[in-house]
Amino acid sequence: MSDFAATLQRGEVVAFPTETVYGLGADATNSDAVLKIYETKGRPRFNPLIVHVTDVAMARRYVSFSPLAETLARFWPGPLTLVLPRRPEAGLSDIVTAGLDTVGVRVPNHPLALELIGAAGVPLAAPSANPSGKLSPTTAEQVRRAFGGRVPVLDGGPCMAGVESTILAVEGGTVTQLRAGALAREEIERAIGQPVAVAAEGAAVASPGMLASHYAPNAALRLNARAAEPGEAYLGFGPGEATLNLSAEGDLHEAARNLFAMLHELDTRATRIAVAPIPRAGLGEAINDRLKRAAAPRG
Ligand code: TXA
Ligand code: MG
Repeated sequence: MSDFAATLQRGEVVAFPTETVYGLGADATNSDAVLKIYETKGRPRFNPLIVHVTDVAMARRYVSFSPLAETLARFWPGPLTLVLPRRPEAGLSDIVTAGLDTVGVRVPNHPLALELIGAAGVPLAAPSANPSGKLSPTTAEQVRRAFGGRVPVLDGGPCMAGVESTILAVEGGTVTQLRAGALAREEIERAIGQPVAVAAEGAAVASPGMLASHYAPNAALRLNARAAEPGEAYLGFGPGEATLNLSAEGDLHEAARNLFAMLHELDTRATRIAVAPIPRAGLGEAINDRLKRAAAPRG
């Protein structure tokens, strides 16, 4: 166990068992580590990731709980993810939340998962431990086969639930199911004594990334700009003059890590932001996807 925890503390990924599916975990406070999840999965774009913690007390460091959310948290440990307001000062990587002001958190009901998070001492961002587009893994062997020994796998036997957690958004007094999962809606409704609305099909996966304005700064964005025009801030990539540079070395990892933070920062300084062209290979696809949405007409 201490080996796995040390690996996580070094900023590497570890596959671990939960009651739902195996997760591909990394330190949720370390952007470089979180980027390795996307790289390992071959996930083409950033989706917000679920943050795994040991208990409600640990969750409180990262999100705010309304009374309704407190009631729902009685299902923890268990296959329920709560999307709650992010506490901005808490130090989660912007890549985990994909720039949203909410975080999906859960306490997995698996002794090894809880032991691992506790030993690492950090919250773990973890999607299912499968290559993008493939079936979710429910045994350690599936994970090993999928990643061919590239990822250390903590073997906890087969997963008890075998489907992903139910995802609920809690906003004010309403609860909306974003993804059906291993905790039945009826059971949730019984516990809170009120109905749970159901979001449109695929909303949990699609909505944050698909909403054109979701990543949009207040400032107007001009993409593929070779230089700033008067009055524009310039977000550079590669060598040359820039207000801020995603990566002077032209490193896409560094650029991805900096993207949300730098857009936030330039938004406080300018009403128009010009952005350098970013190559489309590798993580460039995700960066361009986000930039395109950020620059899209706002309806
Ligand atoms: O059972 C599970 O939930 C597994 C295990 C490993 O815990 N994890 C899992 O993660 O299924 P993943 O990445 O495959 O699914 C996470 C889902 C995505 O559809 C994502 O859009 C949604 O959670 N999500 C995460 N944070 C969100 C947020 N702040 N707002 C809306 N949706 C969010
Ligand atoms: Mg998945």
